Amino acid sequence: MRLFIAINLSEGMKAALIDAQNEMYDGGVRGGFTTEENMHLTLAFIGEVPDAEPVLDALSKVSFTPFSLCLEGLGCFGDLWWAGMGASPPLDALARRIRRALAESGIPFDRKRFSPHITLIRKARGDMPGVTVGGASMNVDAFSLMRSDRGRNGMIYTELGRFPAEQG
Ligand code: 2AM
Repeated sequence: MRLFIAINLSEGMKAALIDAQNEMYDGGVRGGFTTEENMHLTLAFIGEVPDAEPVLDALSKVSFTPFSLCLEGLGCFGDLWWAGMGASPPLDALARRIRRALAESGIPFDRKRFSPHITLIRKARGDMPGVTVGGASMNVDAFSLMRSDRGRNGMIYTELGRFPAEQG
């Protein structure tokens, strides 16, 4: 199974991201828009593993306190366009802790530098209009271990475990 670790987004955050996608569409951009249920912020990408148990074990040792996340700006990796976040030391710290826990448990993961983004469209065609992304924010009170499966109509993401923040 193919695994990654992500923050699943609040309804309000997803609504703001859908508004941004609609602005793109109305501006003539076409491509593979991320569906609402698939919107997430990846913290670490593990890829293929035979068994999720060791990953669940490793993640259960990660502690963090809730923090807020604020949408800010649009960016791209080639023809993939994403919404970015304002600089967030607690977000960077959470990704670092997760990656350290994976490394300490001997679980391989993609070591590319953490570059927080929420993918809005892949294989985008057409000139990107000026799109407003910003303002929406959410409280991050958990992260999730996700499984990714290729479905008939795109990727299907399933939550295998949810790891809440420590309160107070
Ligand atoms: P992306 O949205 O920029 O493609 C599931 O594939 C999630 O893991 C996506 O959010 C994807 O980011 C992210 N991811 C990070 N590294 C990846 C990799 N090496 N291969 C596939 N997906 C990766």
